[in-house]
Amino acid sequence: MDTADSGLLVKMEIVHLIKFAEKFAGIEVHLPVNGKFLKLNYSQDHFVGILRKLQQKDVTEVYIKEADCKKVLEQVSQSMSSASFYDPKTIQEQRVEAVNAAMETVKGIINQLGVEAETVKLLKTINNRAMTLLGESPSIFAFIKDFKKNCSEEFLLSILTNYIMSLVIDKFPWKSDQVKEKGALASMMCDMTLTKDDFKVLRDWQKNGGDLPEHLLRHPAEIAESLKKNRLLIPIETITIIEQHHETPDGKGFPMGITSNRFNQLSAIFIISQQFTENLHDASYDYEKRNEIIKRIHNKYGHAKMFEKAIDALMKVVA
Ligand SMILES: [Fe+2]
Repeated sequence: MDTADSGLLVKMEIVHLIKFAEKFAGIEVHLPVNGKFLKLNYSQDHFVGILRKLQQKDVTEVYIKEADCKKVLEQVSQSMSSASFYDPKTIQEQRVEAVNAAMETVKGIINQLGVEAETVKLLKTINNRAMTLLGESPSIFAFIKDFKKNCSEEFLLSILTNYIMSLVIDKFPWKSDQVKEKGALASMMCDMTLTKDDFKVLRDWQKNGGDLPEHLLRHPAEIAESLKKNRLLIPIETITIIEQHHETPDGKGFPMGITSNRFNQLSAIFIISQQFTENLHDASYDYEKRNEIIKRIHNKYGHAKMFEKAIDALMKVVA
């Protein structure tokens, strides 16, 4: 092992890194030991061999050089457009795993390095691939079954929100793929900084109420703030949705407690689509409960005009 002198190091989950590892021969792997980063020795082992040995020792994350992230992103991008992804012999499960690993990897890189043109492009590709997988499934419920097993809950909810949202947007005269993409980016980034434990706490709070820790109350504003630094890459509508995704028209949401006249139509559609998806998830995807769920959403949001329009459109979609 050598001591690292490579500047900024970026944390990566081994399980995902292995999925994109085929052409990574030159990438340095670093491990934090006693407050220092140590570079692993490549003289005997191949990159994947090193990662597998670390996994056997229950190490789940390693650090790579910022410059090497580019190679990882290239691999992620290739995996999303490779012939094997579209090969009919590739089983659905592998595609789902690939899309989820791509999402987790890109999210990790954005959280540490901020958004760049390449990462935003990849988010759009990942969403497109997920929508393709959904379109190819015999039914949305077959899709959920595949995704539930092979991807994180937060990614499944994000993809389903995007799907429902795109159908709801189709009910409006100003519908377009560009508008759908703005909403899709919001759903993929709105909880981007949350850990798996944070996400669980937030979901429990949504179901049961109570108090939320300060850092969870701050996440919509914090993520929006960091994205505002890249206004040329992220549409303002996407940032507004992220800022507002936990707000409610009665002023009891967070972080700002804004009231009904501050929401635009796309934000309202996003919030309604996300609420419907999360409620359906909590009802174990029992579609018979859709009217009950819509009624609940209507009670909470329906008194504001933008939300009422969004709920009307949703009712037409799920009828
Ligand atoms: Fe959130």
